[in-house]
Amino acid sequence: MSEEKAILTIDGKQIELPVYTGTDGTKAIDIGKLYDEHRMITYDPSLANTGLCRSKITYIDGDAGILRYRGIPIEQFDNESPNFVETAWLLIFGRLPTQDELLDFRARLTNNALLHEGLRQRIEMLPPSAPPMASLSAAISEMACYYKGYLTLDDDEQLTEVAARMISTVRTIAAYSYRRSQGLPIIYPNPKLRYVANFLHMMFSYPYLHYEITPEIEDAMNLILILHADHEQNCSTATVRVVGSSLANMFSSCSAGVSALWGSLHGGANVEVMKMLDGIYAGGLTPEQCIEAAKDKANPFRLFGFGHRVYKNYDPRAKILKAACDKVFAQLQHQDPLLDIARKLEELALSDQYFVDRKLYPNVDFYSGILLRAIGIPTNMFTVIFAIGRLPGWIAHWKEQHDNPTNRIIRPRQVYEGNDITDYIPLKERS
Ligand code: CMC
Repeated sequence: MSEEKAILTIDGKQIELPVYTGTDGTKAIDIGKLYDEHRMITYDPSLANTGLCRSKITYIDGDAGILRYRGIPIEQFDNESPNFVETAWLLIFGRLPTQDELLDFRARLTNNALLHEGLRQRIEMLPPSAPPMASLSAAISEMACYYKGYLTLDDDEQLTEVAARMISTVRTIAAYSYRRSQGLPIIYPNPKLRYVANFLHMMFSYPYLHYEITPEIEDAMNLILILHADHEQNCSTATVRVVGSSLANMFSSCSAGVSALWGSLHGGANVEVMKMLDGIYAGGLTPEQCIEAAKDKANPFRLFGFGHRVYKNYDPRAKILKAACDKVFAQLQHQDPLLDIARKLEELALSDQYFVDRKLYPNVDFYSGILLRAIGIPTNMFTVIFAIGRLPGWIAHWKEQHDNPTNRIIRPRQVYEGNDITDYIPLKERS
């Protein structure tokens, strides 16, 4: 319990509020009883300054550009170990798995890789041109129809099984939607392949031609998934918590997370970055004009892949991705003019007073698309890849919310500014 108190003075009255201190010394004033005891609320539009929960999953220091999963610096997630599956387990269960736990989780991923035939047929009914994020959100939500035994989770065994099922299935759904959009036959998962290799196989193999998975590409994909795996209370994760707080099941909560992620200010930014770079490459606009457009307040255009609510420094994920682009391009002897354009944009922005004053730096979405493109992932699947990566984070936060014995439904208040009491006017009397 908190010993420290903050004093709020209002209307000549002093109100004592408990103060909590996080691991890094950040202080949080607990205003949870302010309304019940004093009929007062706080106003924090967009919740920019509100701690939604007390969490042990991910730590960010936005000023220093630090990101840690369960205390481990993001720079230590280097593909060899921990890889994406191990990272997922770490995030969900709070510590690194033992050898046996990891083997067990891998086996569950393999056993759950196939789509339920009913679910496959349901996806079949969506138009092939459906936006992949719409298909993904719908399919995850529909999992609740096929796995009803997991709508309430009574123990860790059930949670482990449903987590593995979701993490495994989401990859199959994503690959399947892509194949349909291309008019290509569905490729079933191969139980001999590891998580990422299996995804690439389902995306790119043909019934008569096995896709050759190079270690460089598998590693790059692993890295992308790891870097997206969690990011504390971002828009989609907060959404998962809000939905989960009503005791909604994990499928519906994560489906809501996919919807929140889709927007261009959040995960959809990786698609916008690509459109922007493509537009510059096609000659529609120079990098300099692009920077000017982003600064123009009369223009809704933003420099996508730049800026962040929390980071006021270089996003450590962008730093890793930028270096990964250089490494993977050299390994594959690959070239992409969009990488040069991105570097130029970054150079211009980082030396421009507008971006310097507002502390706007590249975020995770700035370089991820260029790397995904080198792997062969089409642009309209970029945000889906983000979702596959983020799913373990959503599950970890859903679990933390669910396991909290003091969970209350998340239900903010508002400052009402509408009409005062107003009489109803019958239709025929209205002018
Ligand atoms: N281009 C131009 N101006 C910007 C940008 C940008 N990318 N980002 C922020 N600003 C300006 C903004 O106009 C505001 O200016 P002023 O103080 O003059 O009004 C100032 O910087 C502060 O921005 P904000 O909109 O109050 O910041 P926010 O914390 O509400 O929004 C953000 C954060 C990420 C939505 C925003 O920076 C943005 O729109 N960036 C582009 C979209 C993007 O890359 N999103 C991915 C975010 S990282 C991964 C993820 O979460 O999915």
